[in-house]
Amino acid sequence: MVSKNAVLKDMFYGGDYNPEQWSEDVWQDDMRLMKKAGVNIVSVGIFSWAVLQTSPDTYDFGWLDRMMDLLAQNGIYADLATATASPPAWMARHYPDSLPVDENGVRYSQGARQHYCPNSKAFRLLAAKLVRKLAERYKHHPALAMWHINNEYGCHISRCYCDQCAAEFRVWLQKRYGTLDELNARWGTNFWSQKYYDWEEIGLPRKTPTYPNPGQDLDYARFMSDSLLECYLTEYRILREETPGIPIMTNFMGFFKPLDYFEWAKHMDVVTWDSYPEPTAGIPVGAAMAHDLMRSLKGGEPFILMEQVTSQVNWRRHNPVKRPGVMRLWSYQTVARGGDGVMFFQWRQSRAGAEKFHGAMVSHTGDENSRVYREVEQLGNELKRLTPVVGSRVKAKVAILFDWHNWWALELSSKPNWDVRYVEQIAHYYKPLFEQNIAVDFVQPTGDLSGYSVVFAPTLYMVEPGVKENLESYVAGGGTLLTTFFSGMVDENDRIHLGGYPAPLRKLLGLTVEELDPMLPEQTNRIVVSGLAPEADGEYECSLWADVIRLEGAQALAAFAEDFYAGGPAVTVNAFGSGKAYYVGTRGEESFTSRLVAKVLADAGVQAPLAAEPGVEVQCREKEDQRFVFVLNHLPRPASITLPAGEHRELIGGEALSGTLELAPNGVAVMQLAP
Ligand code: GLA
Ligand code: ZN
Repeated sequence: MVSKNAVLKDMFYGGDYNPEQWSEDVWQDDMRLMKKAGVNIVSVGIFSWAVLQTSPDTYDFGWLDRMMDLLAQNGIYADLATATASPPAWMARHYPDSLPVDENGVRYSQGARQHYCPNSKAFRLLAAKLVRKLAERYKHHPALAMWHINNEYGCHISRCYCDQCAAEFRVWLQKRYGTLDELNARWGTNFWSQKYYDWEEIGLPRKTPTYPNPGQDLDYARFMSDSLLECYLTEYRILREETPGIPIMTNFMGFFKPLDYFEWAKHMDVVTWDSYPEPTAGIPVGAAMAHDLMRSLKGGEPFILMEQVTSQVNWRRHNPVKRPGVMRLWSYQTVARGGDGVMFFQWRQSRAGAEKFHGAMVSHTGDENSRVYREVEQLGNELKRLTPVVGSRVKAKVAILFDWHNWWALELSSKPNWDVRYVEQIAHYYKPLFEQNIAVDFVQPTGDLSGYSVVFAPTLYMVEPGVKENLESYVAGGGTLLTTFFSGMVDENDRIHLGGYPAPLRKLLGLTVEELDPMLPEQTNRIVVSGLAPEADGEYECSLWADVIRLEGAQALAAFAEDFYAGGPAVTVNAFGSGKAYYVGTRGEESFTSRLVAKVLADAGVQAPLAAEPGVEVQCREKEDQRFVFVLNHLPRPASITLPAGEHRELIGGEALSGTLELAPNGVAVMQLAP
């Protein structure tokens, strides 16, 4: 793996740059405005395939040569795109089967972007040819700092149902299962007469009369993530060979269901991602959660925010602007959570095309005379002062288990309650952690848990081989685990773990779930909490789901108040080895979950870096013996925070701080704490 700081040691600051949309006299002004705004890197030519390659055998690199030289002359680096995200029209014409097909068998047309089948031989070959040419041409160019492969894989087309994909799926299945007998057993094909006698009989889960086979559906999700990854790797291998010292990546999209980013991240030198929270929906807890996930993909290595918008997007039905100060505040949230760079889509707002109303660093005013540019300029020049933070890490004592395969399996069709959505359940536990300013890592269920005091595992529906042992040894060794309803249900093929729910976790949790009682949307129950903590005891509403629980060693902390299981356990804790395992058999109202989380953290001795009122975000990054504390005021009013003893250095303004820190609305402080 190559460090992203191989070339550039400061915070990355810049954006997607599409100079092919502008005449070359505009480029000169771009350079001036970039330097004024503190831009040090731009992602060049992401959608420029059609201007780089004018036919199957003719290329035109002249404009890119001039652009790369211009960047180098101006001291700005290129995150050079491989440009394969949107194939030229000639490809669709010469290779119509490079176009993807939907589940109804309808072929997509050229004319937007991302119109390629991930298993198309023509697409892969032509992409590889272009990438080789780009790498050979620019490998020694002084502006080249990083490779940007393709763009947001799967964003529009994450599934293709064409015949090439079906053929490749069969190859993938043969590799995975070896024999048809094994496949039939894993997919449970004696159900509904689905048994296969020849590999050729197996297709993709195209349009079926009712629920498709869940095992097939799940493997198709795995196969599609792998197929797109193979597209990435085809380019990656070429770039690695030609430029062994240049970092390579593609941009992720946070909690993006179709791609198993833990698997993908193994092949990325740095994780980068694109974040577009709704600008006026309040504190961006969802973005914080995604930053934490992105940081976690490579075990806590800093990531780069590859795209965000300065002002407004154009793809929601209604697109309000980010209010003054919000872009800056949220940019610091990125850095606080492990970002070593903040970039935008895009540099200059387009004149034509489907994104002309999408915000940019330079708006349609075309110059520096806009609020947006002024904010961009301020932030870019501030970030120059954060070089000491680059490379520092967030050290979390709390982990949330997260797994794409669990996500896919949990949300397959024909479930007891279709409203149980994985990311919502994760967010239900993440939110109180965020509000209590507790740093969180996301870890796969088979990952190393030894460094964590508390592990949350909401709706861990799928328990794959190794997970039971991992959780048991973590808790036995003194860890605290909290899991919830609809966990431990199925194996890696979505087959029930027999032996009483949640079979693989029963011993650890000290209980059996006898029945599942999913609730109607308008239905609620209540839980009576006693013996958890004085501040948590009382009565709360619950919804979505109720488990009928039989204790087998665990202790009840709350009981349902209504229905035939009134008085039955709703929340339990079990002593296991030197640790504890909590189980929550329903979805408690937020105030309950928040108090439960606070109690679990307090017992485990986990604390926020600084005490602050809700709405004031505090996160800490560490490097060697230096500690950087970020304080962000999301409140519409001033906030004051009591600082630890000593004189601390505030990096943005450069002044010394002690006693109390006062922050205006949208205000930010980045303090290097006194040793
Ligand atoms: C994505 C893409 C960009 C652009 C933005 C608009 O993140 O990567 O090319 O379309 O969305 O928000
Ligand atoms: Zn296909």
